[in-house]
Amino acid sequence: MSFDLVFFGGTGDLTWRKLMPALFQAFRHGKLPGGGRILAVARDEMSDERYREWLKERFREVEGPKRPSDEEFERFAALVHYRRMDLSQPEHYQRLKEWLATAQAETVVLYLATSPHLFTQICEQLGAAGLNEPRVRIVLEKPLGHDLASAQQINRVVRSVFREEQAFRIDHYLGKPSVQNLMALRFGNALFEPLWRRESIANIQITLAESLGVGTRGPFYDGTGALRDMIQNHALQLLTMIAMEPPSTNDADAIRDEKLKVLRSLKPFSAESVARDVVRGQYRAGTVDGKAVVSYLDEGKIPADSQTETFVALRTEVQNWRWAGVPFYLRTGKRLAARDAQIVVNFRPCRTRSFRAPARPTAWSSSCSPRTGWSCTCWRPRAVPMVRRWRRSLWTWTSTRPLPPTGWRLRATAAGRDRGRLNLFVRSDEQEQAWRWVEPILDAWRLDSGGPRAYSAGSWGPPAASALVARDGFAWAEEH
Ligand code: BG6
Repeated sequence: MSFDLVFFGGTGDLTWRKLMPALFQAFRHGKLPGGGRILAVARDEMSDERYREWLKERFREVEGPKRPSDEEFERFAALVHYRRMDLSQPEHYQRLKEWLATAQAETVVLYLATSPHLFTQICEQLGAAGLNEPRVRIVLEKPLGHDLASAQQINRVVRSVFREEQAFRIDHYLGKPSVQNLMALRFGNALFEPLWRRESIANIQITLAESLGVGTRGPFYDGTGALRDMIQNHALQLLTMIAMEPPSTNDADAIRDEKLKVLRSLKPFSAESVARDVVRGQYRAGTVDGKAVVSYLDEGKIPADSQTETFVALRTEVQNWRWAGVPFYLRTGKRLAARDAQIVVNFRPCRTRSFRAPARPTAWSSSCSPRTGWSCTCWRPRAVPMVRRWRRSLWTWTSTRPLPPTGWRLRATAAGRDRGRLNLFVRSDEQEQAWRWVEPILDAWRLDSGGPRAYSAGSWGPPAASALVARDGFAWAEEH
């Protein structure tokens, strides 16, 4: 299937850091539909050649094995074009239309990798230029807006120009293989499904930890913060996949209906529960991976009095028959001790007096990034002869089959063959419900002059995050 893929925000951080390298991987693995063109558009005046040189420079920062050789880059770069575009000018959209007409590709993907405040303007202009015909797909990167009202406004405009099945709202965590596997694992295995409920599960922890700081994204990040950047979308999407009921069919909407029900069942926050159940932090200088790193306030272009959180830990509950009373702890942060995106399901201890109590709970955990796979940590008494070769009383069973590389999947899906897999993208009502749930936290923080708690780079966040879990008699996975 031939395609044209247009990146709005073609010189932005997201494009060169994530999207182009992801597309390159798709290209390398033969997953890009053949006969395609990639067009980057942005404000600067540049020729195709100059843009390709610029991109080649940026690709030097791509992690080792994912970096293209010169020869691979040349072949990939032959697909890449560049045009200057002022997003407020209708005639620039006409020029884009003319450029697209030169190929008449079967699918045109318009990928908005710009700041979300430009989304409505771009969509309106695209509609006015007639760039919303059925072969067009619009891809919107998160964060979609900065609160419920702005997300609703964007969705209203998107819906007025495109049909819902033309809109692909990206949450790249949904494209990670271990996240995609969650449903099959949960609903396809008698080992898990009967236990996946309040009677057997003590608590669930979702940790999205990064050792990186904000890097060159200072101004964007300072206006966003960890709650909007990671919790409202990635962490909540993982929560829905862990907590949802089985969908009636494999249809995208049946799946997204179930995810929406989970979001609607989340315990709403009040000013009091935000003070009790949400911890926000901001990193200070410290050591990460053996290297000294600066405080958030000394990162480029961050105001010296910034109150933006680089860390959030919170406790919530899914108030339905399956999960009532089970704490769900969500946590994310920059400059933490390790890079790890992990879901941990801690089971309740068995009621038996025959064995001494195990030091840590039976747990199932799934890693999504950078490692992928899942593991089960169980307790066994030393004396069982069958497993005598295990010296320790705890053993871990890990899925051994390496999972394929991630990253390019969603983009390739939006660009191509797999129209039916809209469940890998977020529906507008899911997104709006997620905003509805986080908004009381944002409101409470606005009124709280206390600001975020300081934590040292290279730690696991402020001590209050451990206290949040300890209050219920539990501990974060790394504290066992
Ligand atoms: C992005 C956030 O959505 O996800 C970034 O904007 C974050 O701040 C990134 O670094 C993490 O994604 P991954 O796939 O590297 O865990």
